[in-house]
Amino acid sequence: MVDLGGRDVLRADQFTTDEIDHILNTAERFADHLRNKDRLNTMAGRVLATLFYEPSTRTRLSFESAMARLGGEVVSVASAMTTSSAAKGETLHDTGKMIESYADVVVIRHPLEGSAEELAGGASIPVINGGDGTGQHPTQALLDLYTIRQERGTLSGLTVALIGDLKNGRTVHSLAPVLALLGNNLTLVSPRSLAMPDKVSDALRAHPVNVVETENLAEAAADSDVLYVTRMQKERFEDPADYEAVKGTYVVDLALIEKAKPGVIVMHPLPRVDEIAKEVDTYEGAAYFRQAGNGVPVRMALISLVAGVV
Ligand code: NCD
Repeated sequence: MVDLGGRDVLRADQFTTDEIDHILNTAERFADHLRNKDRLNTMAGRVLATLFYEPSTRTRLSFESAMARLGGEVVSVASAMTTSSAAKGETLHDTGKMIESYADVVVIRHPLEGSAEELAGGASIPVINGGDGTGQHPTQALLDLYTIRQERGTLSGLTVALIGDLKNGRTVHSLAPVLALLGNNLTLVSPRSLAMPDKVSDALRAHPVNVVETENLAEAAADSDVLYVTRMQKERFEDPADYEAVKGTYVVDLALIEKAKPGVIVMHPLPRVDEIAKEVDTYEGAAYFRQAGNGVPVRMALISLVAGVV
């Protein structure tokens, strides 16, 4: 029996295979409710706090939409770095102590790795990591898994190419280890300077799957079932010249898809800059907007599970 009640969601690799299955199956049930326009009251009388110290569109909106669709309420600080007491020097630990009297579950996004953990150290309510710097983005990984399962009908035995800024991208840091755990092969496509950090790639190699590192997107695309494209994380570059040197390195366009494995699906956590040509939007395997939509049922599942109401 899987029970996630009271748990924090800090890293994607904290979950067992059974827990992942349970989260995705719960999300599927919520997706059915959404399709049927059922009115849910699972979280009635409860409050979700969203504490965002870094820009976000999808993550914050989909969490807030998820809570609204569960019949709960939301309190929110959007530019917490300037408008919250962080500007006065309050620690996240103290923020955690205080926030538990205002909410039942809290989602935090912050530019520093480890920040969600620090908040969780102070808070007795479940803390969900909505992205901590270049660290982790576990809820994105779960909605990515949900999307792959939906689009490909399976979550194992696939070859997934992770493309772009693998050094700074927290979505790939979260997703890659879980894909390896579930038995998928990984092709890591990046410029050498933006390779997957050792601590992540070493963890991948602990699983009996193929892990290949390459700079060649066309070659990777020929053998992949999923192209998971990411943007160069401009805000994480210390020297703007380094960003200029790598921007535009990889572009997925229809010409590339023609040479890719038939039926390949294209994913992206969004926002995209120039790494997927707009013409790809008409390709039936372009899954990135469906992927963004999946954020709502997956986050409905996570909120309900950690709140212990399902
Ligand atoms: C991602 C993030 O914030 O890490 N966005 C998201 O949550 N969908 C990806 C990105 O910003 O590149």
